[in-house]
Amino acid sequence: MLKKFTTLVASAALSVLLVSGVAQSADPITIKFAHVVAENTPKGQMAVKFKDLIAERLGGKVKVEVFPSSQLFDDDKVLQAMLLGDVQLAAPALSKFERYTPSLQLFDLPFLFKDMAAVQKFQSSDKGQALLKSMEKKGLVGLGYLHNGLKQFTCSNALRVPADAAGKKFRVMPSDVLAAQFQSLKAIPLKKPFSEVFTLLETKAIDGQENTYSNIYSQKYFEIQPYITESNHGLLDYMVVSSTEFWMGMPADIRTEVKKALDEAIAYGNDLSGKKDLSDRQLIVDSKRTEILTLTAAERAQWVEAMKPVWKQFEEKIGKDLIDAAYNSNN
Ligand code: SIN
Repeated sequence: MLKKFTTLVASAALSVLLVSGVAQSADPITIKFAHVVAENTPKGQMAVKFKDLIAERLGGKVKVEVFPSSQLFDDDKVLQAMLLGDVQLAAPALSKFERYTPSLQLFDLPFLFKDMAAVQKFQSSDKGQALLKSMEKKGLVGLGYLHNGLKQFTCSNALRVPADAAGKKFRVMPSDVLAAQFQSLKAIPLKKPFSEVFTLLETKAIDGQENTYSNIYSQKYFEIQPYITESNHGLLDYMVVSSTEFWMGMPADIRTEVKKALDEAIAYGNDLSGKKDLSDRQLIVDSKRTEILTLTAAERAQWVEAMKPVWKQFEEKIGKDLIDAAYNSNN
């Protein structure tokens, strides 16, 4: 009799739990974080840090799954997938948002920032922070900027002056500004996904590409490209994004904790990016597989001069105010 009574009480308690939703909250919120680079990069390490912080602080309530190296989606598909709810977090290069907002084209203008301190200064300004909201109408929310660094050219021939690039094929990210940049050199830009670049270089379908030392090292471009021109001509940074639907759909207290962990992981990745830029450059030098060409002031001035018309070309679309504000962060 007592046993029957205990069973009845237990099943009544279970029903109450189920109805109140307490039992359901045992299912963690899953955040799939997809990116295209290797794990030993600033973005790869930032993603791992975020996963670890969430496991430590919100284990059981939120679970982060990281998919590096285009395992889940290439950058040309990830934002569509995010809007469909197939992935919850990504950090595409700022050059990959063109279909969603023209404003972020700003960051692709050649020779806009003299160093990463200027990038940081602009991104943390009111105008820089406002750009995080530039895709809200499209259903995407920017959660922060993540650094990689300044880009260098790699090529099958030595690029010392702009004329050396004429007639050569270069892979670019899907950005009209980057395409115009190579057209200003009389070179041929080809928009291709990151995951295809190594094969395109290896098979000589393209002559060169532009990237940071971290990507040149981790993707092994330095093993198959005999020359790197240390031009620092453009920026490769990321925006960490989620869909507004997913982000705002999380309970407010959980969202606050997730954002806190994300901010910490981004700060960690940003700190690492400067260090990796130097250490990956050194690993490339030590490999003796490629030659790093540094430019004289006169050679550099020629690159600036050749590419500068791109600014005027995109001024109306991006906005002169924004360009001026970004450029002034160099002071
Ligand atoms: C990345 O760093 O996420 C990829 C950059 C590229 O597509 O070149």
